[in-house]
Amino acid sequence: MSLTRAGCLALDANDPLAQHRSAFALPDGIVYLDGNSLGALPVTTAARVREVIEDEWGRGLIGSWNDAGWIDASRRAGSKIARLIGAADDEVICADSTSVNLFKVLAAALRLEQRRPPVTEHVRDVILSERGSFPTDLYVAQAIAEISGGRCRLVTVSADDIAYHIDDGTAVLLLTHVDYRSGRMHDMRELTRRAHFAGALTVWDLAHSAGALPVDLAEAGADFAVGCGYKYLNGGPGAPAFVFVARRHLHAMADDRFAQPLAGWFGHRAPFEFSPEYEPAAGIDRFGVGTPSIIALAALECGVDTVLAAGIDALRSKSVQLTQLFIDLVDNRCANLGLGLASPREAARRGSQVCYAHDHASPVMQALIGRGVVGDYRPGQAGEPGILRFGFAPLYLRFADVWDAVEALRDILATRAWDRPKFIERRAVT
Ligand SMILES: Cc1ncc(COP(=O)(O)O)c(C=O)c1O
Repeated sequence: MSLTRAGCLALDANDPLAQHRSAFALPDGIVYLDGNSLGALPVTTAARVREVIEDEWGRGLIGSWNDAGWIDASRRAGSKIARLIGAADDEVICADSTSVNLFKVLAAALRLEQRRPPVTEHVRDVILSERGSFPTDLYVAQAIAEISGGRCRLVTVSADDIAYHIDDGTAVLLLTHVDYRSGRMHDMRELTRRAHFAGALTVWDLAHSAGALPVDLAEAGADFAVGCGYKYLNGGPGAPAFVFVARRHLHAMADDRFAQPLAGWFGHRAPFEFSPEYEPAAGIDRFGVGTPSIIALAALECGVDTVLAAGIDALRSKSVQLTQLFIDLVDNRCANLGLGLASPREAARRGSQVCYAHDHASPVMQALIGRGVVGDYRPGQAGEPGILRFGFAPLYLRFADVWDAVEALRDILATRAWDRPKFIERRAVT
């Protein structure tokens, strides 16, 4: 790969995905490296949301639940996402947030485990997860352990040790496929195989995978998964999340009314019968809870369509090129400036983000943002230096943007331009 700006421009000229950038309303002069936190705005979204508001809601009023297909919106968006994650369209529904969906699937997985005949004498009561997981995953697991009255407990270990800790005490393996802090990717197939061998079920958090790289839940034999709509799926701030449950488990829980414990009327077999007794819907619909957010689902569908239009394999191949280019350029142009690569060098073990540790990561990121290079900052683990996080959304990122970002980073580090009070002050969202 050529390490000049002209070389980057040549890569852009030959990029088969280049025209997809025009599907986004990006401000001029910005290099947006934060699509792993909040995806960019698709140009179709504003018109579609306006249509939902003015026509479907404004004119159609309540009739739009039937006439505009609102009642199917959660499943419609879910079936589009299913195509990106190797699932069938009756295994995915969009609803709530990732955190809420984690609660549902973790509780469902534990309940399925408890209903299985024990294989050994050993008590199977552990939710096994990674110490550095995104906090919400750990908070939800802690809450479930607490309210279980001692029937399960959360055990967290380092990423490298996960495989060794899966044993006949493990009830559920709860992992984020691509780590939010380092971009490190777990081998979903191998860890799922190990979990199943030990008699455990798996819950995968796909927040940093869905829409960024091909995921094949069916091939991996995954049991449950959740993920965000607002990152690589471009669904907008607070977009509805998704939840996947393998069909075999949906069948297995058919006779268990509260297998999914957040029993709400949108998970009921027939919400409009208004029956006082909860009877869950068949299949994935029981993972719905309350009234879905129709405007947000319309925006989410526009975002997912941008990913489907490009094709996930093409996106992954460009993502690998972009992240590799970034690493190569930082190696070459930012040597001895205090950056430590915090992501795997090997592309196959990396999601679509590259992170660097730096002693002054937070003000460095603020200085970068001041120059129009937008990434984000995350605190390091256990007293380690903070992390500069750069996400690469191949739908709208150009190779020349990567060059420009690295040049800005080099200059800010070399001149200590980050060392200003306005960059040192911490804002509410980093
Ligand atoms: C890995 C991971 N899981 C879960 C979440 C939170 O999802 P939500 O805000 O939809 O609950 C995030 C948010 O960044 C995340 O990175």
